[in-house]
Amino acid sequence: MIPTARGVFLALNRLAYGAARPLIFLRTAQQAHHDALALLRRADALAPALDPLLGAAHRLAFRRGAFQAGGVTLDSPLILAAGLVKGDGFASEEAALAAVERGANVMPGWRSVPRLAGPVEFGSFTRWPRPGNPGTVVWRDVPTRSTQNRIGLRNPGARAAAAFLGARRDRLPPVYGINIAVSPGVEDPDQQTREVIDGLAAFVANQVRPAWFTLNLSCPNTEDDPRGHQTADEARQVCGAAAGALAAAGVPLWVKLGPNLSDDQYRGLMRVFAEVGVRAVVATNTLPLPTPGDPNVTAGMAGGRLHARAVAVAGLLAAERDAQGYPVDVIGCGGVLDGDTYRTFARLGAPVVQYWTALIYRGLLAAALIAHEAGIDRAGA
Ligand SMILES: Cc1cc2nc3c(=O)[nH]c(=O)nc-3n(C[C@H](O)[C@H](O)[C@H](O)COP(=O)(O)O)c2cc1C
Repeated sequence: MIPTARGVFLALNRLAYGAARPLIFLRTAQQAHHDALALLRRADALAPALDPLLGAAHRLAFRRGAFQAGGVTLDSPLILAAGLVKGDGFASEEAALAAVERGANVMPGWRSVPRLAGPVEFGSFTRWPRPGNPGTVVWRDVPTRSTQNRIGLRNPGARAAAAFLGARRDRLPPVYGINIAVSPGVEDPDQQTREVIDGLAAFVANQVRPAWFTLNLSCPNTEDDPRGHQTADEARQVCGAAAGALAAAGVPLWVKLGPNLSDDQYRGLMRVFAEVGVRAVVATNTLPLPTPGDPNVTAGMAGGRLHARAVAVAGLLAAERDAQGYPVDVIGCGGVLDGDTYRTFARLGAPVVQYWTALIYRGLLAAALIAHEAGIDRAGA
């Protein structure tokens, strides 16, 4: 069989990242994370000079298709999950807005990552900025191809993020998502709902129009236990209000859940999502487990060590959707690292998945490599 230009390009990419990876892994996961953000900041700064190069690499690596999920049509079935392009942390909204006003790049990767990697979910953004957790917050477990983090929703806050993206909306990709997280530490459901709606409204007011919004009910690395936000009652209120607010703007709402709820809780949530018009559920966020350095501190596990649990949760949600006839797509997320792990999720119904850790173990063109291994880019959509 004659190799295609895409096949050759991806094979070269695999070789190049295979050679670079041991050097990258000489740095701690935390150092490598900072290096990557600094690199993305530089890549954004080099645009538009870099755009043709990134665009050419993207076209060579990806075969365009049409993949449907959650009321959205994507040209690639692998979405970069929330957490990479979410921006710098700030202690106050005033400081974050001032940085945006000054023209600072408060969201490294906003321009370069989608151009190279395809569909991206920006965020999570919370209503108010957050500086994130101090100390070591990122780890990797190489034998299991896993990552662990307790970054703690570091972000500039919805208003500054919306102002930043709004000022650049002519340079945003045609299809992207925005992830809004519930406010950690807020126990009053009315206040929680108001903060989520204010967060969404900030993007709409700045004419930032994503193809979908994801409401993240599940960030595990914050001061509260996110399982509290994933009850049917709280979800009915906050998701109902968010779906209602977005219906006017014509943007579908997705919801992201954690991997550690009870089966009954997942079933109850699916019923609520169907009732209030949530179009897709992303399963799952990371799994809280003890950190390597301190067994008393937990951090969210992702990648290989999350995969089996994420598949089990996605399978349960998909079975409930099928049994009840709910119009809610299940978007797998958790340890999509190669063609096989992609197919495991795709078999549950939706061809669209999200990934994050694959970036660490496979490089920035991970989505193209995985699509190629799964045969998607040869068979077409
Ligand atoms: C460093 C890091 C930061 C993350 N930050 C967020 C976040 O801000 N919001 C969110 O919804 N998920 C966040 N996630 C979770 C990912 O979006 C994804 O759900 C999880 O990593 C599982 O996918 P994976 O196994 O492919 O990594 C983060 C993950 C990592 C590794």
